[in-house]
Amino acid sequence: MKRFLIAGNWKLNKTAKETNLFFTTLQPLLSPAIQSELLICPPFTSLPTAAKANERMNVSLGAQNVYPKSSGAFTGEIAPAMLREWVSYVLVGHSERRTLFHETNALINEKIHALFKESLKPILCVGETLEERKQDRACSVIGDELEQGLKGVTKEQLPQLTIAYEPIWAIGTGETATPEIAEMMHAFIYDWLVQHFDAPSAEAVRLLYGGSLKSSNAKPLFQQRHIDGGLIGGASLEPRSFIEIARIADQIQK
Ligand code: PGA
Repeated sequence: MKRFLIAGNWKLNKTAKETNLFFTTLQPLLSPAIQSELLICPPFTSLPTAAKANERMNVSLGAQNVYPKSSGAFTGEIAPAMLREWVSYVLVGHSERRTLFHETNALINEKIHALFKESLKPILCVGETLEERKQDRACSVIGDELEQGLKGVTKEQLPQLTIAYEPIWAIGTGETATPEIAEMMHAFIYDWLVQHFDAPSAEAVRLLYGGSLKSSNAKPLFQQRHIDGGLIGGASLEPRSFIEIARIADQIQK
């Protein structure tokens, strides 16, 4: 059985001071203990504060981005080894990075290899636009993102990988994929992994749903066979709503 992963993607939110307040408020909410794995991905500038506050708690930390080179003339960028001092996970290929910062599948693939090399765990984000869904192209878009994003990845690396399915039309819009749509897409990703690797390797990859996930809609999503947790934006900014989602995951037996 896979352990649920409840991941918060803070995006461009929270100063170091606000991060400290988040973790201080979070601490008493962690009792009784939460069974699901908790992960927070704050902005880079909040990582030292998050790590310090977290010394007393068992919350994993992640980064929201990385550059695939180890050093050199890349002004403004951050290398995997620098992140390794603070985090265990790194988001890769979030739709906001693909759309606003023109990240290609080739760059995303480079990032994934660079992260594996430093023993960091990538969370590869995939998802279709509303237009692609209407044109019945959701599976082919995601198939391409998987094919190119995971090029050269080996079966042995798969247990370190997480994939987040985030339909772009559901991110920050208040509109969530129905459990049926989400499960269909997650099953597609799972089958893709079985076909390209094998069933035990596919089983080792956690598949997260993301897109306006909150405590009011989490239960039927988490009950789906191929949904192993969530990547949460808005609802992860407030400790109570984040923990409510984790408690819902804890109640679900698969
Ligand atoms: P949202 O963001 O929960 O605010 O829709 C999810 C994400 O983009 O990871």
